[in-house]
Amino acid sequence: MAAAWGGVCAANIGGQAGVQIIRDIATLHRAVSALKQGGKSVVLVPTMGALHAGHLSLVRMARRVADHVVVSIFVNPTQFGPNEDFVAYPRDEARDAALLVEEKTALLWAPDVATMYPTGHGTHIEVAELGADYCGAARPGHFDGVATVVAKLFNQVRPDVAIFGEKDWQQLAIIRRMARDLDFGVDILGAPIARDADGLALSSRNAYLSPEQRAAATAFPNALKAAAAAIASGADVGEALAKTEAAIVAGGFDSVDYVALADADSLERLNVWRAPARLLAAARIGKTRLIDNLPVK
Ligand code: PAF
Repeated sequence: MAAAWGGVCAANIGGQAGVQIIRDIATLHRAVSALKQGGKSVVLVPTMGALHAGHLSLVRMARRVADHVVVSIFVNPTQFGPNEDFVAYPRDEARDAALLVEEKTALLWAPDVATMYPTGHGTHIEVAELGADYCGAARPGHFDGVATVVAKLFNQVRPDVAIFGEKDWQQLAIIRRMARDLDFGVDILGAPIARDADGLALSSRNAYLSPEQRAAATAFPNALKAAAAAIASGADVGEALAKTEAAIVAGGFDSVDYVALADADSLERLNVWRAPARLLAAARIGKTRLIDNLPVK
């Protein structure tokens, strides 16, 4: 249950003190300064809401690395293409806030679009080569939108540390590079991918899958796992990637955007394995586009 007064709300569960929900930047700055008093550290977990067990694992990791956890929820319009799911993207702030109370989150930063992008907003970050391939090729402008909103979140919250899921490996690599290139002074940590029992990576977009599509979707992680094992035992990379694409489609997917072996840091495509390597993939089932990745050791 969320009760609003001014820009600040609190969700109360069973009478326990709740998470402070903040919607304007001035209140946010005051609240973060209060959290930082006495030299305490703050960690930011940026999200687009529709929280699932994967997000909650990021929040739990956050509690281990800093004194106070700030979670942001903002469905960022600038990272969605014109024919993507910005409007349909699942939103349930009351449920998200209740989950964050249970995870002892200090503060929920939940600005609206007008606060994040006031009229006349005209500056953005352009991600160069790290954003060109893979999801960047299929979703032009997506990573410029991600980098811009994350830069704004860093400036708004001024955290010591920020945590991003490894499920979007390209996003994580881009944010690490941005934090370094633009001297944000924020430590970027990656959190391991949370998976369902059948191996499917948890994603807010899994909610779009019909029961039949959800059952078929396990073909995606299974094919990647087989490819990672084959490449690790010396299989030809090109052949392994072709087999993986075929297995994903045979498993019920409509198309594969990419399956690639990449240098885990520079994201350069690799035809021959070398460390550190990561298998990156995106595939479409019905209207849903899923991404996943695995280390190849
Ligand atoms: O990974 C996400 O949920 C989003 O891309 C992020 C990092 C919150 C930026 O909108």
